[in-house]
Amino acid sequence: MILFKCINALQKYLNQQKNSRLSVGFVPTMGALHQGHLSLIGMSKAKCDFTVCSIFVNPTQFNNSNDFEQYPISLENDIRLLEQAQCNILFLPSANEIYPNGTALSTHYQLGFIETILEGKFRPNHFQGVCQVVHKLLDIVAPDMLFLGQKDYQQCMVIQQLIALTGIKTQLIIGPTLRESSGLAMSSRNMRLSDDDKQKATTIYQMLQYIKQQCNHQMPNELTASVTKQLLKNGFNTVDYVAICNANNLEPITETDNSTIPKVVLIAAFLNGVRLIDNLLLNNTE
Ligand code: PAF
Repeated sequence: MILFKCINALQKYLNQQKNSRLSVGFVPTMGALHQGHLSLIGMSKAKCDFTVCSIFVNPTQFNNSNDFEQYPISLENDIRLLEQAQCNILFLPSANEIYPNGTALSTHYQLGFIETILEGKFRPNHFQGVCQVVHKLLDIVAPDMLFLGQKDYQQCMVIQQLIALTGIKTQLIIGPTLRESSGLAMSSRNMRLSDDDKQKATTIYQMLQYIKQQCNHQMPNELTASVTKQLLKNGFNTVDYVAICNANNLEPITETDNSTIPKVVLIAAFLNGVRLIDNLLLNNTE
């Protein structure tokens, strides 16, 4: 694996590969890598000739400075994992390399409704920061394919919209959420959970499954209210949302609905200061 810290050197190298007609797959990350990230590297390697992973903890997408400061960092281990996964390139830029003119948001992305709900509502400006950095990274790497995980369901929709808004010629491929045997969705933030909290955190997956069983029999608002209560009873301190939505546009589902509209349930909740998110498609056999 070759490590690049500078944009110019990376682009020079990538241009050589592209001139040889090699396709490029890209997996952007904020590090603290786990099997979920590595599965995206595996998907990229299967579909593209060349795989680039970036590690950059993007300051502009954190609406809470504590969350940014406490974001887990495990660079040595990340490099070892990427080498084992036979990733071709690691792009490891400094904040100055990505934001030479400072981190103020210079472009406003017209994301519309999607930015006003769920993560957008509870983390003001989060998606503007995500778009700012992903736009820059896509300009730098210019990949044929971009790989993101379904665990960040709303982020995937936002990035799809970013690609449409900017006309960037990259195909977005979404990889499935990887889970521990307990059902806990793999996440970099899990590193900040004690063993006891990891056990408590499995309630999220149990509740997603419960909603999947019940959603055709109970009113969505009753179901989400009872699941919120259950999360709080099982040790969560705050529940930002439990939401049943149309999987295509994240419009809320308000009626018990047996139709074939694809649906997704999404949860965000805090456990001892760690914010966890997860989701489940209700029409799938997951
Ligand atoms: O999902 C993430 O890790 C980040 O939001 C991303 C896409 C790498 C942008 O910083």
